[in-house]
Amino acid sequence: MLDQKTIDIIKSTVPVLEKHGETITTRFYQLMFGNHPELLNIFNHANQKQGRQQKALAGTVYAAAMYIDNLEAILPVVKQIAHKHRSLGIKPEHYPIVGKHLLMAIKDVLGDAATDEIIDAWAQAYNLIADAFISVEAEMYDEATHQQGGWSGFRNFIVDRKVIESDVITSFYLKPEDNREIAGFIPGQYISIKLEIEGEKFTHIRQYSLSDAPGKDYYRISVKKEAGTANPDGMVSNYLHDKVSEGDILRVSAPAGDFILDTKKTTPVVLLSGGVGLTPMMSMLKTVVEVQPGRQVTFVHAAANSNVHALGDEVKALSDLDHVNSFVFYDAPTEEDRLNKRFDVEGYVTREWLKENVLMEEADFYFCGPVPFMKAINRSLKELGVKESRIHFEFFGPMGNLEE
Ligand SMILES: Cc1cc2nc3c(=O)[nH]c(=O)nc-3n(C[C@H](O)[C@H](O)[C@H](O)COP(=O)(O)OP(=O)(O)OC[C@H]3O[C@@H](n4cnc5c(N)ncnc54)[C@H](O)[C@@H]3O)c2cc1C
Ligand code: HEM
Repeated sequence: MLDQKTIDIIKSTVPVLEKHGETITTRFYQLMFGNHPELLNIFNHANQKQGRQQKALAGTVYAAAMYIDNLEAILPVVKQIAHKHRSLGIKPEHYPIVGKHLLMAIKDVLGDAATDEIIDAWAQAYNLIADAFISVEAEMYDEATHQQGGWSGFRNFIVDRKVIESDVITSFYLKPEDNREIAGFIPGQYISIKLEIEGEKFTHIRQYSLSDAPGKDYYRISVKKEAGTANPDGMVSNYLHDKVSEGDILRVSAPAGDFILDTKKTTPVVLLSGGVGLTPMMSMLKTVVEVQPGRQVTFVHAAANSNVHALGDEVKALSDLDHVNSFVFYDAPTEEDRLNKRFDVEGYVTREWLKENVLMEEADFYFCGPVPFMKAINRSLKELGVKESRIHFEFFGPMGNLEE
């Protein structure tokens, strides 16, 4: 435990650091990658360029510091991040590297205002926070490795099938090269894929939600090709779409993540997705159908139109079941979509629509999609009085703030 004086110093300096938050973390990454370029094998370069990772890390360090005398209170957040760290392969020996460069950055940005006393207090606080992460992650590594079908680090999987699901989304069915059992997972969880791309200096790791129900002899991921905007094309998704074929090997880490369907509950569940955000929802829907045949499940999916609408037939095939309801929203339907009545509602998912169609006492709401979609759904559900404990969401990138 820290002494009271140290705790007081930490708490009184949090607002100052928060003010310089992103400057400090940006500087921190510059310093750290300068001294440890090998870490660029783990970090997502695009997230760095867009400042998304800096924002997430800064926010967490300061939140943790505010609770330095009661870290238990932020355990759920620690666990969420620890899942991602475990999936990426972050190890205890990485923590002192981050700590050293964070302190260097604080000193650099604050200058003389960062006295030895302040730096010493933050060193102690960082070690305490790091210990909390390391111990949570140790349990996760242990579980990932020792569970049935489990493994540590990255394991070779063969692309057994590659299936085009829409103009932009393709599924990959992955089977282990060693032909042995694979770990189970909870619907909603993701895997990490590590790629070595010819001509690229560093490896690239990305997360993909598992889009089929657990209990199969393969993992399925469904990947959107990130291309065609003013920004550079996405590194990994384009490589998977354009360069990876059936029979190729991908390096995969064991399933992780705390965006999960609670299959012990029997109350209704509403799954809302925009675009490729449907992947974890597919796993949840198919799991409810397979193992909870009486549970009411509503699947709401929003896409521009049928050209980019993936896995629609798979959902449709399940919609005939009494306990399954499905709604398709297109905001830019084609003439053909209109003629063939390929969608249920034109436009976006609104609060009024949610109120009339899916608002149910005791239901749990899960959502995932582009950030504007997630913000709108989150706001609507809150305005409709849905309790926070029944709202669950996943970011397909570093976690952000839906209330901003
Ligand atoms: C838990 C989780 C689950 C996920 N599940 C899925 C899933 O099921 N399916 C799926 O398709 N994706 C999923 N993702 C997203 C996935 O991990 C990747 O982020 C996505 O495939 C894009 O990776 P990329 O390498 O193609 O793009 P990156 O190279 O990482 O680029 C990401 C974005 O940044 C832009 N960008 C790149 N460089 C710059 C720059 N210099 N300046 C500005 N912008 C830039 C690119 O245009 C692109 O849009 C998930 C993410 C998480 C965290
Ligand atoms: C106490 C120290 C740490 C804190 C508070 C912290 C916090 C975070 C947060 C908030 C995220 C974003 C989670 C998300 O994506 O939703 C994250 C992701 C990540 N962290 Fe940490 N982290 C710490 C230590 C480390 C260490 C030691 C390493 C390895 C050197 C590391 C590497 C990463 C990587 C690679 C990601 C994913 C980033 C990306 O791909 O964009 N972290 N961390």
